[in-house]
Amino acid sequence: MARKVILDVDPGIDDAVAMCMAMFDPRLEVVAVTATAGNVSADQATRNVQAIVEQLDPPRWPRIGEAREPDQGRPVNSRHLFGGDGLGNSFFQVAELHNRHPSDKVICDEIRAAPDEVTLIALGPLTNIASAFRRDPEVVSLVGQIHIMGGALACGDVTPAAEFNMYCDAEAARNVLRSPTTKTLIPLDVTRQIVMTYDQLDELPDETTAVGRLLRSILPHAFRSYRMNLGLEGIHLNDAVALVAALHPELFQTETMAGDVETSGELTTGATIFDRRPAPEWRGNIDVAIDVDVAGVIDAIIRGLSKTS
Ligand code: RIB
Ligand code: CA
Repeated sequence: MARKVILDVDPGIDDAVAMCMAMFDPRLEVVAVTATAGNVSADQATRNVQAIVEQLDPPRWPRIGEAREPDQGRPVNSRHLFGGDGLGNSFFQVAELHNRHPSDKVICDEIRAAPDEVTLIALGPLTNIASAFRRDPEVVSLVGQIHIMGGALACGDVTPAAEFNMYCDAEAARNVLRSPTTKTLIPLDVTRQIVMTYDQLDELPDETTAVGRLLRSILPHAFRSYRMNLGLEGIHLNDAVALVAALHPELFQTETMAGDVETSGELTTGATIFDRRPAPEWRGNIDVAIDVDVAGVIDAIIRGLSKTS
């Protein structure tokens, strides 16, 4: 039976790539895609989720959750990498969505409908997940696993200390990391090792397929912006790597750690802090990916995208 997953995303080009993989993977039943603010505003994130689903027209349409701005969010975005609309300035048209439901309510509904069966794959700030746990505290004990793209052991991206998803809503990130749930963290230290190069575009589905058309609409912008802003001849697909970690855990080495999130440091807000003292006093609360089969993951991403046609 297909594994039930909820994708919580802030599309974002790398979120979009993960959505392409997940919604056509026969091993997964994407019961919902819930939008969260981050790379783009809450409203734009919701529009982007709907636009991607409409462009892809997957075999099974997921429920769509509507994002809201975080209570204590920070005014950052990723337009320098993903463009003004978050999807390479594709500015996809979207049909008006009727009976929209808030993302946190959709998360609670779907977890209650399948206790212990749903894997939450968090690819954006953790606003919705923390909000879902506040909205319905029993959901904490009913959710299956939580896979989180976020955090950093060595150095951040949005600041020297913090990774973007943790930084955007550090309070939410702290609450989720402190929750008594089964969590796996795929940090920048691992996701940054995977770089898609321009020549690998040729290995992706062509424009006769919906996925091929979407990827060719959004990825060229990412290649240009990564070169201009980061001096990189290729792009990071952080969220696609996190999805592969849920599908192919054998490609990752993890270590159980005791982690928390700084919420008030002048220089360190959003930093993920781990107690790795010789005699740690914090209790282990999360499995953290510390090494990865780079070639295996890039192959899994390209194969995952190629299976969609
Ligand atoms: O730091 C990278 C993460 O922040 C990715 O999920 C990217 O999409 C942004 O959300
Ligand atoms: Ca993301």
